[in-house]
Amino acid sequence: MADSITITDNRTGDSVEIPIIDGGVSAEPWRKLLPNVWFYDEALMTTAMTQSAVTYLDGDAGVLRYRGYPIEQLAEQSTYLEVAYLLINGELPTTAQYEQWVHDITYHTFIHENVRKRFLEGFHYDAHPMGMLVSAIAALSTFYAEAKDIFDPDVQKKQIVRLIAKMPTMAAACHRFSVGMPFVYPDNSLSFTENFLSMMFKVAEPRYQADPRLSRALDLLFILHADHEQNCGTTAMRVVGSAHADPYSAAAAAAAALYGPRHGGANEAVIRMLTEIGAVDNVPSFVEAVKRGHGRLQGFGHRVYKNYDPRAKIIKQAADDVFAVTGKNPLLDIALKLEDVALSDDYFISRKLYPNVDFYSGLIYQAMGFPIEMFTVLFAIPRMSGWLAHWLELLQQDQKIVRPRQLYTGTPERAYVAMDRRG
Ligand code: CMC
Repeated sequence: MADSITITDNRTGDSVEIPIIDGGVSAEPWRKLLPNVWFYDEALMTTAMTQSAVTYLDGDAGVLRYRGYPIEQLAEQSTYLEVAYLLINGELPTTAQYEQWVHDITYHTFIHENVRKRFLEGFHYDAHPMGMLVSAIAALSTFYAEAKDIFDPDVQKKQIVRLIAKMPTMAAACHRFSVGMPFVYPDNSLSFTENFLSMMFKVAEPRYQADPRLSRALDLLFILHADHEQNCGTTAMRVVGSAHADPYSAAAAAAAALYGPRHGGANEAVIRMLTEIGAVDNVPSFVEAVKRGHGRLQGFGHRVYKNYDPRAKIIKQAADDVFAVTGKNPLLDIALKLEDVALSDDYFISRKLYPNVDFYSGLIYQAMGFPIEMFTVLFAIPRMSGWLAHWLELLQQDQKIVRPRQLYTGTPERAYVAMDRRG
């Protein structure tokens, strides 16, 4: 049997046979056969907008790989900065490459004083840190005017290093401002996550040294969040990047998408939901209410995973290591019960709704002392490397500007009516 599909225009009898390549069919022959007939695909659910060699995801089998490496192996053996290098460069670094990369990132963690003083500190006192972060990422483009030279490889590399390096600094600055604490400067003697924890939580001690089990757990969470192929935020990065905007502006768009509760905002929503449930005994009635259409189980379900999210599995295991240091998050029992009830209920089984990455991550962040408002920010810090890997790929592919079509359903042409004749 041919590995192809045939489309016939029944108005003319004309047909076109299109080969199935890499699991997809090209739209080009369709465009030739059916000019001005648009393929209607709400939310791009059946459309591959690009070819990509960054991340492989099989939602039915629960498989996730960065550049071919299984997420389980990276989670166990790698570090976030090594994974960031892998995503961007396509290969794991040699020792020399890794040392240079870590050095480059470490020495770009400082932000211009005016980003903080004039910009971040200009926000309202109770500004949400994710709203601040989105704006701060965009504002960086005004500090690095050369970033507009997007096809120069040296300029690309410089902005990639800057963006990955400055995310923790800006994220912590947003937090410190929102709780009225003074800004903590980066400490170049610390690792990526140790430095972030120091900028977040340092008070008066001369040097803040996080518990190594916590900095490792955070590093693991960063690995798991680093990329997830063509999700809403990454698509925003590609859409804005396709207009040849500078990487700061494109990354700000991606972060804005991530802010939404259906996307990276879900980890925040999970904790609010578990807090609202309040006690293990309330779980069954809560689940029944969801089934009757009252809200959704936050941290459950995924557009692509129709099996257990492999990231959720790893996080669930890591939670125990963190709770051994911090003490158990009191919401854990409610979460476990919720998972138990949902996974044995036909409503969730038949719809293939399993816990996703956000279901357990919030419990860990909360136990580590992060305020709920920081959860999406914690997602954005490592996702920056994924966004940039896709941005680089987009430029290398020299893709056209993204410009979909629409099916117009509005009023046909009509004549303007003067205001005094409008009834
Ligand atoms: N709780 C209860 N019912 C659900 C849920 C849920 N969390 N998710 C989907 N459903 C039901 C939905 O009501 C629908 O039922 P029916 O067929 O009877 O109308 C069916 O499942 C399919 O839902 P859908 O909205 O068509 O699915 P989608 O692919 O558009 O939505 C989702 C994916 C992630 C937006 C959705 O599952 C959801 O809202 N989950 C809760 C929010 C969440 O945890 N988001 C984080 C996603 S993972 C992090 C990331 O990668 O960004």
